[in-house]
Amino acid sequence: MTKITSRPSFLATALLAWYPRHRRDLPWRHTRDPYAIWLSEVILQQTRVAQGLPYYETFLVAYPTVQDMAAAPEAEVLRYWQGLGYYSRARNMHHTAQQVVNEYGGRFPTTYAGLLQLRGVGPYTAAAIASFAFDEAVAVLDGNVYRVLARIFGLHSDIAAPSSRKEFQALADQHIPADAPADFNQAVMEFGAIQCTPVKPDCLFCPLQSQCWAFQHGQVALLPVKSKAKASRTRYFHYFVLRHGDQTYLRERREKDIWQGLYDFALAETTAPELPAAELVRHLDALGAQLDTRQAAEPSAMFRHVLSHQKLEARFHPMTLSQPLPAATLRDLGLRAYSTDEIEALPKPKLIANYCSQNL
Ligand code: ADE
Ligand code: SF4
Repeated sequence: MTKITSRPSFLATALLAWYPRHRRDLPWRHTRDPYAIWLSEVILQQTRVAQGLPYYETFLVAYPTVQDMAAAPEAEVLRYWQGLGYYSRARNMHHTAQQVVNEYGGRFPTTYAGLLQLRGVGPYTAAAIASFAFDEAVAVLDGNVYRVLARIFGLHSDIAAPSSRKEFQALADQHIPADAPADFNQAVMEFGAIQCTPVKPDCLFCPLQSQCWAFQHGQVALLPVKSKAKASRTRYFHYFVLRHGDQTYLRERREKDIWQGLYDFALAETTAPELPAAELVRHLDALGAQLDTRQAAEPSAMFRHVLSHQKLEARFHPMTLSQPLPAATLRDLGLRAYSTDEIEALPKPKLIANYCSQNL
């Protein structure tokens, strides 16, 4: 039998030499626990390292094991996630924890293919866990990796097009060394985050300069090619902050829309910035005759929030009620009365949390 010793790739050699001298000391780089690694990657898909760190620590304290997370109420998981946005990711995370406990006896699958079976675990996360926890030689592809590969190899495929994934994955898998897959994956991502950055990469002091296609061809600023996402729409939210005594009315968002499972106030939505007076009257009528209109304060300043495909502009109309809302109105609008302490504990969109912390 012939033993095939493949020559180490120039990319792996350079990155594995660069990495130990430049790596940041990050807590998830000190563990082989697939649960902690999975948690860190779910958080880091949503935010940058600096913002993600405290969330990682908080989640691990609250839920040291996958069993702990699986046993937690969804609202609590969403509350810990508050501020990171894109809450379906948190719901998927919670569901995945339950799936690992209920269907896998509390142990994460140990292979890339097995990990892909988990809900909310895509190729990126599966490759990260498989390599970091189990030393499987499968390359991670995230924005950093796409950029580094596109520049070094001069790839002009649109990285926003799903069809480009195969090409980049094949290339990365060709270069990942079987004896150091975890370090290689960390190294490419770190190299993209620190050296080969989106804007003003440090080409002057780059160990790959002489082998980098983009640098040699003066095209660093042109790569990677990434088509623009289509323009996002703006939604205008007019919130009615109804209060009676020290109670405030909120509802859980159940509709198939943004912020499912989070809490906000009674809402009128428009496609233009202003809420027409007739609309306002119609919404107030729907609330019944409990409004003491003399106590309706001026609407708040605009609160803005940008999501990946939409922009939100919200105004809050605080209103004091002379009596509690009747049961039928609560049922129709899905509202419930909460104390300020209870509201603090509810999972809320950031925009709502900001309003509450300033006004309730
Ligand atoms: N971004 C995504 N995964 C990461 C990791 N493991 N370390 C640093 N940044 C990351
Ligand atoms: Fe990135 Fe510049 Fe290095 Fe090329 S030379 S890998 S573009 S930092």
